[in-house]
Amino acid sequence: MAKTYDYLFKLLLIGDSGVGKTCVLFRFSEDAFNSTFISTIGIDFKIRTIELEGKKIKLQIWDTAGQERFRTITTAYYRGAMGIMLVYDITNEKSFYNIRTWIRNIEEHASNDVEKMILGNKCDMNDRRQVSKEKGEALAVEYGVKFLETSAKASINVEEGFISLARDIKAKMDRKLEASNPSNRTAHQLKNEPSKKSRKWSCALL
Ligand code: GTP
Ligand code: MG
Repeated sequence: MAKTYDYLFKLLLIGDSGVGKTCVLFRFSEDAFNSTFISTIGIDFKIRTIELEGKKIKLQIWDTAGQERFRTITTAYYRGAMGIMLVYDITNEKSFYNIRTWIRNIEEHASNDVEKMILGNKCDMNDRRQVSKEKGEALAVEYGVKFLETSAKASINVEEGFISLARDIKAKMDRKLEASNPSNRTAHQLKNEPSKKSRKWSCALL
């Protein structure tokens, strides 16, 4: 069967229970919202194909349960992720402080070069805000990752978030592919590469 996409990216959503991970994903995949809270059991996933720079990108997005009792199951999915969305709720300060714990989990269980992004969800509830936008931005700067405030309910920045993460993964992948294909190397890179002989020597020295 013909492949219907050029790239397959595996993404993961993590964060405390109730921050809105499932709703953010539902907004992105179905463009809909549900206000009844049905806490995720274990893990679930949705698929959406987007187009970037003329290429079809299939996004396989894993939605994890935030509840502690599912931690063993959910951390098993970190390893295969190419991008991770860390989600907190702007009306819940604890979920924001826990982002540090979630980042530590990533450092422990995910691949080293996984792309990360922080989302401060429920930004439609400004009257109940406990975490300022500046605080969210500062945390993202500290970890060197991108940041957006989103609302799954009011459909704010959800699309932008996933597309930005996919774009960063694609750019990283394209750079890696380019570096590994000798015909793509520039004359400058080729000139500065060690000759076969010196390569042999450096191997012998290792
Ligand atoms: P777990 O599956 O337990 O980890 O929780 P979750 O992070 O998946 O939370 P979920 O998406 O189920 O949302 C929790 C509650 O927050 C639900 O009642 C949602 O309707 C509500 N909610 C989610 N996103 C938003 C949002 O952007 N704005 C508002 N006002 N409510 C939201
Ligand atoms: Mg959920």
